Amino acid sequence: MKNGFSKLTKEEKINWLVDKVFLNNIEAKKLLEQYHLSNSDLQKIHDDFSENTLSNFLLPLGVAPNFLIDGKDLTIPMVVEESSVVAAACNSAKFWYKRGGFKTKIIGTEKTGQVHFLFDGNKKELFNFFAKIKTKLIISCEHITANMKKRGGGIVSLELLDKTMDIENYYQINADFETADSMGANFINSCLEQFSKTLEIELNSDPRFNHNNLEIIMSILSNYTPDCKVIAEVECKIDDLIDKDITDSSLFAKKFKTAVEIAKKDVTRAVTHNKGIMNGVDSVVIATGNDFRAVEACAHSYASKDGKYKSLTHAEISKNKFKYWIELPISIGTVGGLTNLHPLVNWSLKLLGSPSAKDLMKIIAVSGLAQNFAAIKSLITTGIQKGHMKMHLSNILNLLGADDNERIQLVKFFDNKVVSHSLVKNKLKEIRNG
Ligand code: MEV
Repeated sequence: MKNGFSKLTKEEKINWLVDKVFLNNIEAKKLLEQYHLSNSDLQKIHDDFSENTLSNFLLPLGVAPNFLIDGKDLTIPMVVEESSVVAAACNSAKFWYKRGGFKTKIIGTEKTGQVHFLFDGNKKELFNFFAKIKTKLIISCEHITANMKKRGGGIVSLELLDKTMDIENYYQINADFETADSMGANFINSCLEQFSKTLEIELNSDPRFNHNNLEIIMSILSNYTPDCKVIAEVECKIDDLIDKDITDSSLFAKKFKTAVEIAKKDVTRAVTHNKGIMNGVDSVVIATGNDFRAVEACAHSYASKDGKYKSLTHAEISKNKFKYWIELPISIGTVGGLTNLHPLVNWSLKLLGSPSAKDLMKIIAVSGLAQNFAAIKSLITTGIQKGHMKMHLSNILNLLGADDNERIQLVKFFDNKVVSHSLVKNKLKEIRNG
């Protein structure tokens, strides 16, 4: 057990770890230093984001051009380590550019939070009391809500929920919020903590109750935001689906729809299907400095909203039309948080034309839909491995330290062949042995 680790300087922390875990291996120290000394300005910013920061951890930032969204031409920034995700986005973007592009619609932007508490007293009196103090609860937050109101946000509604069927004496104050262009986590949590303080003060000063009646458990926003939701869709004539990999457009449309139906019925497929969607969603969420854990948690719980985990995308064939869409709750922001602090987040937002939170919700949903389209298109035509093989080979060649000449020979050799680490290794050995 090491006490006071967080009080050590960065240098001392690195030395302690290198000494203790890496048996003083100087390379382990150099590696950390290489990534923080070469970018000390960014390191200073990162030091303030999180505790015990030792170095910078880099991920690839790529872009996918040619996204036509509601008639606007966009290049989307994507931060992702997985090969083929950006390539898939580019392919989908181009495919749909020629077929009218993506259309989007915001369904709502409301977020929620709850004060969870136990009340051991008369239920009816509690509800009467709540109705009386509701305005006071809102007024008590005025110092927190003043700025948000100027930006068009604030507390939308408050209600007391009886949860005693779930847990004895359990109630909630459920609050709905609008948070304008910010994700609003700090704003919502501050309001909720103020509600719980005011609730406690008011209840304790009411002669009908005594202080033993109330026990506040916690006050916290919910990352489940089904009322902060966007729809993104594409549509075209079935005949127009023809492409170099799609020779029979009706068969393609039918197989595509079946693939989506399978992801609605079968959880083993649904999880992979939605994971592919999140490849596109998370890459943009990360590039724009948003909380991908919140977006992930919300998306997956929404996928289970009917009591069964299902596809987040939908496909429809009617008459001669193919329609395909995603319905996704996403809580993100384009101001506050990392948006102004992280230079590349700032860059990514500028690349997108400094979008509002609503605009960014649309872009993220489109990125998820595009990714899912590319995945299903590959799966039901050429198979997924064809697209993956090029990157897979490149990663193996990097790992094996192949030079440019060896690379050219091996890329040629593996064209249309299944790549495996052992096969690449053997082939490289053969080349090296002449
Ligand atoms: C890989 O990261 C994602 C896919 O498996 C998604 C899917 O199968 O739909 C290709």
